[in-house]
Amino acid sequence: MSEAPHGAPIKTPGQLIAAIVASFAIPVVIIILLVNYVNESTRTGAGTDGLSDAAVAQRIAPIAQLNLRDVNAPHVYKTGEQVYQAVCSACHATGNAGAPKFGNAGDWAPRISQGFDTLWHTALTGKGAMPARGGTSPDDYSDYEIGRAVAYMADHGGAQFADPPAPAASAPAAQGASAAAEASEAAATSAASAQAAAAIAALSNAPQANAAAGAAPSADAAQAGKALYQQVCQACHATGVLNAPKFGDKDAWAPRLKDPMDVIYNYALHGKGNMPPKGGSTASDADVKAAVDYMVSAAK
Ligand code: HEC
Ligand code: HEC
Repeated sequence: MSEAPHGAPIKTPGQLIAAIVASFAIPVVIIILLVNYVNESTRTGAGTDGLSDAAVAQRIAPIAQLNLRDVNAPHVYKTGEQVYQAVCSACHATGNAGAPKFGNAGDWAPRISQGFDTLWHTALTGKGAMPARGGTSPDDYSDYEIGRAVAYMADHGGAQFADPPAPAASAPAAQGASAAAEASEAAATSAASAQAAAAIAALSNAPQANAAAGAAPSADAAQAGKALYQQVCQACHATGVLNAPKFGDKDAWAPRLKDPMDVIYNYALHGKGNMPPKGGSTASDADVKAAVDYMVSAAK
């Protein structure tokens, strides 16, 4: 048995040089690859979060930020109580600077006697130490919302004011965009409420609704509903003033009666478009609902 011939792999000086170079270069390359493999993440200076998502988003954010409001979105109006809490209570809760104090009938009685419209107007334009709109801008709170706050405060001072009529739903689309839009909205609102006032005035020889409703507690709801209808609601609903659904007109009522009764009551209580809350009366909620029932049963 002879051993296989012992062939040395390096036979020439050239091969020797190549072997030496390779024995240095190969480990170096392997080490570099290993280091890269282990440390795959993006490198940043020690202790910075300059590449965190938040920091990047901030750097690439547009310089001017625009807060777009969808002008066609239905506007949710603040209630009088919400506006009062947010704005008016600053002075009116304690009677600061001579403001009529919330809930103090003595402070409010002489003011209430001026009537709701005057108080509303005063709240919008200011008076003495009372800043116009309580110091807010029309973009913050509409005339309507300020009016609700006035009614809320006055009612807690002994008045029985209803909320002002809600602005027509078809207010200009560019609401809030400019003073012009604001002005025309105000014009539309006041035109609508002027019409409504005229409709109610046409009925001025009728006794005040709350007198009747208050005198005869709604023992017989149907009776009270009919009475309230005749005294208040028919001013618009008998003939369809301002596009009110006409009494007994099944076609006019059918689309509305698809809503649940609670929704329909709500419209009658809090207004809808040209329909003033409670028809502009101060009747009790129960009587208004009874009047709705009366109108609805006539349209079925
Ligand atoms: C910076 C304090 C302050 C704020 C905020 C304020 N009021 Fe007044 N308000 C007053 C003062 C003071 C008076 C009394 C003015 C007078 O009779 O000279 C007053 C009076 C009134 C009156 C009676 C006006 C009259 O003719 O007698 C009404 C109504 C009224 N405020 C509504 C509001 C409403 C609504 C808000 C919130 C949207 C509001 N106020 C926010 C200080 C304030
Ligand atoms: C100043 C005129 C006016 C008076 C007064 C009035 N209404 Fe209306 N009412 C309207 C108008 C306008 C509409 C239609 C509103 C709309 O659809 O935008 C309406 C709609 C309604 C609706 C239907 C709401 C719906 O779409 O489901 C009910 C219910 C209603 N009124 C009840 C009453 C009751 C109850 C009274 C009396 C307490 C009353 N109205 C007094 C003008 C009036």
